[in-house]
Amino acid sequence: MTSAMRTSPSVTVRAPAKVNLELRVGPVRPDGFHGLATVYQAVSLYDEVTVRAADEWSVTVEGPRALGVPADDSNLAMRAARALAAVHGIDEPVEIVIDKDIPVAGGMAGGSADAAAALVACDWLWGLSSSREELAEIGAELGSDVPFLVYGGTAIGTGRGEVVAPVLTRGTYHWVFAAADVGLSTPAVYAEFDRLASDREIADPVTSPDLMSALRSGDPAALGARLVNDLQPAAISLRPELGELLTDGLSYGALGGIVSGSGPTVAFLAAGHESAIDLAVALTASGAVTEAHRATGPAHGASLRGVPRVD
Ligand code: C5P
Repeated sequence: MTSAMRTSPSVTVRAPAKVNLELRVGPVRPDGFHGLATVYQAVSLYDEVTVRAADEWSVTVEGPRALGVPADDSNLAMRAARALAAVHGIDEPVEIVIDKDIPVAGGMAGGSADAAAALVACDWLWGLSSSREELAEIGAELGSDVPFLVYGGTAIGTGRGEVVAPVLTRGTYHWVFAAADVGLSTPAVYAEFDRLASDREIADPVTSPDLMSALRSGDPAALGARLVNDLQPAAISLRPELGELLTDGLSYGALGGIVSGSGPTVAFLAAGHESAIDLAVALTASGAVTEAHRATGPAHGASLRGVPRVD
Protein backbone atom coordinates (compact mmCIF):
# COMPACT_ATOMS: atom_id res chain seq x y z
CA MET A 1 0.00 0.00 0.00
CA THR A 2 1.39 3.41 -0.96
CA SER A 3 1.28 6.51 1.26
CA ALA A 4 -1.29 8.16 -1.06
CA MET A 5 -3.61 5.14 -0.74
CA ARG A 6 -3.39 5.14 3.09
CA THR A 7 -4.25 8.79 3.54
CA SER A 8 -6.59 9.72 0.67
CA PRO A 9 -10.36 9.58 1.00
CA SER A 10 -12.30 7.02 -1.00
CA VAL A 11 -15.61 7.13 -2.86
CA THR A 12 -17.79 4.02 -3.27
CA VAL A 13 -20.43 3.83 -5.99
CA ARG A 14 -22.72 0.93 -6.67
CA ALA A 15 -24.14 0.23 -10.09
CA PRO A 16 -26.98 -2.13 -10.97
CA ALA A 17 -27.23 -5.00 -13.43
CA LYS A 18 -29.76 -4.79 -16.26
CA VAL A 19 -32.23 -7.02 -18.01
CA ASN A 20 -33.62 -6.31 -21.47
CA LEU A 21 -37.41 -6.60 -21.28
CA GLU A 22 -37.48 -6.40 -25.06
CA LEU A 23 -34.45 -6.72 -27.30
CA ARG A 24 -35.02 -6.22 -31.01
CA VAL A 25 -31.96 -6.66 -33.16
CA GLY A 26 -31.64 -5.07 -36.59
CA PRO A 27 -29.14 -5.47 -39.42
CA VAL A 28 -25.40 -5.02 -38.97
CA ARG A 29 -24.37 -1.38 -39.41
CA PRO A 30 -21.32 -0.15 -41.28
CA ASP A 31 -19.44 0.15 -37.94
CA GLY A 32 -19.98 -3.59 -37.29
CA PHE A 33 -22.56 -3.12 -34.50
CA HIS A 34 -26.19 -4.18 -34.85
CA GLY A 35 -28.89 -1.54 -34.72
CA LEU A 36 -31.04 -2.15 -31.65
CA ALA A 37 -34.39 -1.18 -30.23
CA THR A 38 -34.48 -2.33 -26.65
CA VAL A 39 -36.23 -1.71 -23.34
CA TYR A 40 -33.76 -1.87 -20.47
CA GLN A 41 -34.63 -2.27 -16.81
CA ALA A 42 -32.02 -1.80 -14.07
CA VAL A 43 -32.32 -4.40 -11.28
CA SER A 44 -31.16 -4.52 -7.67
CA LEU A 45 -28.13 -6.72 -8.18
CA TYR A 46 -25.04 -4.56 -7.74
CA ASP A 47 -21.32 -4.23 -8.24
CA GLU A 48 -19.55 -1.74 -6.00
CA VAL A 49 -16.62 0.31 -7.22
CA THR A 50 -14.36 2.18 -4.79
CA VAL A 51 -11.83 4.73 -6.03
CA ARG A 52 -9.16 6.66 -4.15
CA ALA A 53 -6.21 8.78 -5.18
CA ALA A 54 -3.02 6.74 -5.54
CA ASP A 55 0.53 7.04 -6.87
CA GLU A 56 -0.26 4.79 -9.82
CA TRP A 57 -3.32 3.60 -11.75
CA SER A 58 -4.44 0.16 -10.56
CA VAL A 59 -7.53 -2.04 -10.47
CA THR A 60 -8.34 -4.96 -8.17
CA VAL A 61 -11.38 -7.22 -8.49
CA GLU A 62 -12.87 -8.80 -5.35
CA GLY A 63 -16.05 -10.52 -4.29
CA PRO A 64 -17.95 -13.71 -5.08
CA ARG A 65 -17.71 -13.27 -8.86
CA ALA A 66 -14.23 -11.81 -9.35
CA LEU A 67 -12.99 -14.82 -11.33
CA GLY A 68 -12.37 -14.05 -15.00
CA VAL A 69 -12.54 -10.26 -14.73
CA PRO A 70 -9.35 -8.65 -16.09
CA ALA A 71 -7.43 -6.61 -13.49
CA ASP A 72 -5.45 -4.61 -16.03
CA ASP A 73 -5.80 -1.69 -18.44
CA SER A 74 -8.49 -3.55 -20.40
CA ASN A 75 -10.82 -3.48 -17.37
CA LEU A 76 -13.85 -1.35 -18.28
CA ALA A 77 -13.82 0.55 -14.95
CA MET A 78 -10.18 1.46 -15.50
CA ARG A 79 -10.89 2.53 -19.08
CA ALA A 80 -13.82 4.64 -17.85
CA ALA A 81 -11.72 6.39 -15.18
CA ARG A 82 -8.96 7.13 -17.68
CA ALA A 83 -11.47 8.37 -20.28
CA LEU A 84 -13.01 10.80 -17.77
CA ALA A 85 -9.52 11.98 -16.76
CA ALA A 86 -8.57 12.51 -20.42
CA VAL A 87 -11.70 14.57 -21.16
CA HIS A 88 -10.91 16.89 -18.23
CA GLY A 89 -7.10 16.92 -18.61
CA ILE A 90 -6.71 15.32 -15.17
CA ASP A 91 -3.45 13.63 -14.25
CA GLU A 92 -4.40 12.08 -10.90
CA PRO A 93 -4.06 8.29 -10.84
CA VAL A 94 -6.61 6.31 -8.85
CA GLU A 95 -6.69 2.90 -7.23
CA ILE A 96 -9.93 1.14 -8.24
CA VAL A 97 -11.40 -1.74 -6.24
CA ILE A 98 -14.36 -3.58 -7.76
CA ASP A 99 -16.56 -5.71 -5.52
CA LYS A 100 -18.22 -7.98 -8.03
CA ASP A 101 -21.66 -9.49 -7.51
CA ILE A 102 -23.12 -9.29 -11.03
CA PRO A 103 -22.55 -12.50 -13.05
CA VAL A 104 -19.55 -12.16 -15.40
CA ALA A 105 -20.30 -12.56 -19.13
CA GLY A 106 -23.88 -13.27 -18.10
CA GLY A 107 -25.83 -10.84 -20.30
CA MET A 108 -26.48 -8.52 -17.36
CA ALA A 109 -23.94 -5.83 -18.30
CA GLY A 110 -21.68 -6.29 -15.27
CA GLY A 111 -18.65 -4.79 -17.02
CA SER A 112 -20.71 -1.82 -18.17
CA ALA A 113 -22.01 -1.38 -14.61
CA ASP A 114 -18.41 -1.15 -13.39
CA ALA A 115 -17.65 1.47 -16.04
CA ALA A 116 -20.73 3.52 -15.08
CA ALA A 117 -19.79 3.26 -11.39
CA ALA A 118 -16.18 4.31 -12.06
CA LEU A 119 -17.38 7.36 -14.01
CA VAL A 120 -19.66 8.49 -11.16
CA ALA A 121 -17.02 7.70 -8.49
CA CYS A 122 -14.16 9.55 -10.22
CA ASP A 123 -16.48 12.45 -10.99
CA TRP A 124 -17.02 12.84 -7.22
CA LEU A 125 -13.39 12.25 -6.31
CA TRP A 126 -12.16 14.87 -8.77
CA GLY A 127 -14.98 17.32 -7.94
CA LEU A 128 -16.12 17.60 -11.57
CA SER A 129 -19.92 17.78 -10.99
CA SER A 130 -20.58 16.34 -14.46
CA SER A 131 -24.19 15.87 -15.47
CA ARG A 132 -25.43 12.36 -16.13
CA GLU A 133 -25.63 13.28 -19.82
CA GLU A 134 -21.91 14.12 -19.84
CA LEU A 135 -21.00 10.86 -18.09
CA ALA A 136 -23.28 8.87 -20.40
CA GLU A 137 -21.60 10.41 -23.44
CA ILE A 138 -18.17 9.28 -22.24
CA GLY A 139 -19.67 5.89 -21.28
CA ALA A 140 -21.06 5.37 -24.79
CA GLU A 141 -17.51 5.12 -26.13
CA LEU A 142 -16.78 2.27 -23.71
CA GLY A 143 -19.79 0.02 -24.29
CA SER A 144 -23.33 0.10 -25.63
CA ASP A 145 -24.94 -0.50 -22.19
CA VAL A 146 -22.85 1.98 -20.17
CA PRO A 147 -25.07 5.07 -20.70
CA PHE A 148 -28.15 3.17 -19.50
CA LEU A 149 -26.38 2.11 -16.30
CA VAL A 150 -25.47 5.74 -15.60
CA TYR A 151 -29.21 6.57 -15.69
CA GLY A 152 -30.84 3.34 -14.42
CA GLY A 153 -34.61 2.96 -14.09
CA THR A 154 -36.40 1.67 -17.19
CA ALA A 155 -35.50 3.10 -20.58
CA ILE A 156 -35.66 2.58 -24.31
CA GLY A 157 -32.26 2.11 -25.93
CA THR A 158 -31.72 2.77 -29.63
CA GLY A 159 -28.67 3.21 -31.87
CA ARG A 160 -26.46 0.32 -30.76
CA GLY A 161 -28.14 0.57 -27.34
CA GLU A 162 -26.32 3.72 -26.20
CA VAL A 163 -29.07 6.26 -27.03
CA VAL A 164 -31.29 6.16 -23.96
CA ALA A 165 -34.71 7.66 -23.23
CA PRO A 166 -36.59 7.03 -19.95
CA VAL A 167 -39.85 5.06 -19.91
CA LEU A 168 -42.79 5.57 -17.55
CA THR A 169 -43.45 2.51 -15.41
CA ARG A 170 -45.64 1.71 -12.42
CA GLY A 171 -44.81 -0.60 -9.53
CA THR A 172 -41.94 -2.87 -8.67
CA TYR A 173 -41.15 -6.04 -10.58
CA HIS A 174 -39.79 -9.13 -8.86
CA TRP A 175 -37.16 -11.04 -10.81
CA VAL A 176 -35.31 -14.30 -10.36
CA PHE A 177 -32.05 -14.59 -12.30
CA ALA A 178 -30.79 -18.08 -13.00
CA ALA A 179 -27.04 -17.70 -13.46
CA ALA A 180 -24.92 -20.16 -15.42
CA ASP A 181 -21.50 -21.38 -14.28
CA VAL A 182 -19.83 -20.42 -17.56
CA GLY A 183 -20.49 -17.14 -19.39
CA LEU A 184 -21.25 -16.51 -23.06
CA SER A 185 -19.31 -14.07 -25.23
CA THR A 186 -21.52 -11.23 -26.51
CA PRO A 187 -19.83 -11.04 -29.96
CA ALA A 188 -20.25 -14.84 -30.32
CA VAL A 189 -24.00 -14.57 -29.65
CA TYR A 190 -24.39 -11.73 -32.17
CA ALA A 191 -22.41 -13.80 -34.71
CA GLU A 192 -24.78 -16.74 -34.11
CA PHE A 193 -27.74 -14.36 -34.53
CA ASP A 194 -26.30 -13.35 -37.95
CA ARG A 195 -25.75 -17.00 -38.90
CA LEU A 196 -29.32 -17.98 -37.98
CA ALA A 197 -30.68 -14.95 -39.87
CA SER A 198 -28.49 -15.39 -42.95
CA ASP A 199 -31.35 -16.64 -45.16
CA ARG A 200 -33.76 -13.79 -44.42
CA GLU A 201 -34.00 -10.04 -44.46
CA ILE A 202 -33.63 -8.49 -40.97
CA ALA A 203 -36.14 -5.71 -40.41
CA ASP A 204 -35.31 -2.41 -38.74
CA PRO A 205 -35.84 -2.90 -35.00
CA VAL A 206 -38.77 -1.35 -33.12
CA THR A 207 -40.10 -1.84 -29.60
CA SER A 208 -43.70 -2.85 -29.06
CA PRO A 209 -46.43 -0.48 -27.79
CA ASP A 210 -47.94 -3.45 -25.90
CA LEU A 211 -44.87 -3.75 -23.72
CA MET A 212 -45.05 -0.01 -22.95
CA SER A 213 -48.69 -0.34 -21.87
CA ALA A 214 -47.82 -3.36 -19.73
CA LEU A 215 -45.14 -1.27 -17.97
CA ARG A 216 -47.57 1.60 -17.44
CA SER A 217 -50.20 -0.76 -16.01
CA GLY A 218 -47.79 -2.16 -13.42
CA ASP A 219 -49.27 -5.62 -14.02
CA PRO A 220 -46.47 -8.22 -13.89
CA ALA A 221 -48.59 -10.81 -15.73
CA ALA A 222 -49.00 -8.42 -18.66
CA LEU A 223 -45.27 -7.70 -18.71
CA GLY A 224 -44.39 -11.39 -18.33
CA ALA A 225 -46.39 -12.22 -21.45
CA ARG A 226 -44.53 -9.60 -23.50
CA LEU A 227 -40.89 -10.28 -22.69
CA VAL A 228 -39.03 -10.86 -25.96
CA ASN A 229 -35.40 -11.17 -26.97
CA ASP A 230 -34.24 -11.59 -30.58
CA LEU A 231 -30.89 -12.91 -29.28
CA GLN A 232 -32.60 -15.74 -27.40
CA PRO A 233 -32.61 -18.28 -30.29
CA ALA A 234 -28.90 -17.58 -30.83
CA ALA A 235 -28.10 -18.03 -27.13
CA ILE A 236 -30.15 -21.27 -27.05
CA SER A 237 -28.43 -22.47 -30.21
CA LEU A 238 -25.07 -22.07 -28.45
CA ARG A 239 -26.41 -23.38 -25.11
CA PRO A 240 -29.38 -25.73 -25.74
CA GLU A 241 -29.87 -26.27 -21.98
CA LEU A 242 -31.17 -22.68 -21.71
CA GLY A 243 -34.34 -23.79 -23.52
CA GLU A 244 -35.01 -26.42 -20.83
CA LEU A 245 -34.28 -23.93 -18.08
CA LEU A 246 -36.88 -21.53 -19.53
CA THR A 247 -39.46 -24.32 -19.62
CA ASP A 248 -38.62 -25.31 -16.03
CA GLY A 249 -38.99 -21.74 -14.72
CA LEU A 250 -42.39 -21.33 -16.36
CA SER A 251 -43.55 -24.68 -14.96
CA TYR A 252 -42.53 -23.45 -11.47
CA GLY A 253 -44.87 -20.48 -11.77
CA ALA A 254 -42.87 -17.70 -13.46
CA LEU A 255 -45.11 -15.20 -15.30
CA GLY A 256 -42.53 -14.95 -18.05
CA GLY A 257 -38.96 -15.97 -18.78
CA ILE A 258 -36.30 -14.66 -21.09
CA VAL A 259 -32.60 -15.00 -21.79
CA SER A 260 -31.06 -11.82 -20.38
CA GLY A 261 -29.34 -9.83 -23.15
CA SER A 262 -26.85 -12.12 -24.85
CA GLY A 263 -27.16 -14.66 -22.01
CA PRO A 264 -26.56 -17.14 -20.58
CA THR A 265 -28.35 -15.76 -17.47
CA VAL A 266 -32.08 -16.45 -17.68
CA ALA A 267 -34.45 -13.88 -16.15
CA PHE A 268 -37.81 -14.99 -14.74
CA LEU A 269 -40.53 -12.55 -13.74
CA ALA A 270 -42.49 -13.51 -10.62
CA ALA A 271 -45.90 -12.30 -9.45
CA GLY A 272 -44.47 -10.77 -6.26
CA HIS A 273 -41.95 -11.10 -3.45
CA GLU A 274 -43.22 -14.45 -2.10
CA SER A 275 -43.55 -16.02 -5.55
CA ALA A 276 -40.00 -14.94 -6.35
CA ILE A 277 -38.74 -16.75 -3.23
CA ASP A 278 -40.74 -19.88 -4.17
CA LEU A 279 -39.43 -19.76 -7.73
CA ALA A 280 -35.80 -19.32 -6.67
CA VAL A 281 -36.13 -22.24 -4.25
CA ALA A 282 -37.80 -24.46 -6.87
CA LEU A 283 -35.11 -23.72 -9.46
CA THR A 284 -32.24 -24.52 -7.11
CA ALA A 285 -33.92 -27.42 -5.25
CA SER A 286 -34.74 -29.16 -8.55
CA GLY A 287 -31.12 -28.83 -9.65
CA ALA A 288 -32.15 -26.77 -12.70
CA VAL A 289 -29.52 -24.20 -11.66
CA THR A 290 -26.90 -23.92 -8.94
CA GLU A 291 -27.53 -20.20 -8.34
CA ALA A 292 -30.75 -18.19 -8.48
CA HIS A 293 -30.67 -14.52 -7.45
CA ARG A 294 -33.71 -12.48 -6.57
CA ALA A 295 -33.75 -8.81 -7.50
CA THR A 296 -36.31 -6.07 -8.03
CA GLY A 297 -36.59 -3.50 -10.79
CA PRO A 298 -36.48 -0.72 -11.66
CA ALA A 299 -33.36 0.20 -9.67
CA HIS A 300 -31.40 3.47 -9.59
CA GLY A 301 -28.44 3.92 -11.90
CA ALA A 302 -24.85 4.22 -10.65
CA SER A 303 -25.07 6.07 -7.33
CA LEU A 304 -22.90 6.94 -4.39
CA ARG A 305 -23.63 4.20 -1.87
CA GLY A 306 -26.83 5.12 -0.06
CA VAL A 307 -27.38 8.25 -2.15
CA PRO A 308 -29.45 7.87 -5.34
CA ARG A 309 -28.09 10.32 -7.90
CA VAL A 310 -30.21 13.39 -8.67
CA ASP A 311 -29.05 16.05 -11.09
O1 C5P B 1 -20.88 -2.38 -26.92
P1 C5P B 1 -20.38 -3.63 -26.31
O2 C5P B 1 -18.96 -3.53 -25.87
O3 C5P B 1 -21.26 -4.16 -25.25
O4 C5P B 1 -20.42 -4.70 -27.47
C1 C5P B 1 -19.74 -5.93 -27.39
C2 C5P B 1 -19.85 -6.63 -28.72
O5 C5P B 1 -21.21 -7.04 -28.93
C3 C5P B 1 -19.53 -5.79 -29.93
O6 C5P B 1 -18.16 -5.81 -30.21
C4 C5P B 1 -20.34 -6.45 -31.03
O7 C5P B 1 -19.72 -7.63 -31.48
C5 C5P B 1 -21.60 -6.88 -30.29
N1 C5P B 1 -22.67 -5.88 -30.37
C6 C5P B 1 -23.33 -5.70 -31.58
N2 C5P B 1 -24.34 -4.78 -31.66
C7 C5P B 1 -24.70 -4.05 -30.58
C8 C5P B 1 -24.05 -4.23 -29.34
C9 C5P B 1 -23.04 -5.16 -29.27
O8 C5P B 1 -23.03 -6.35 -32.58
N3 C5P B 1 -25.69 -3.17 -30.70
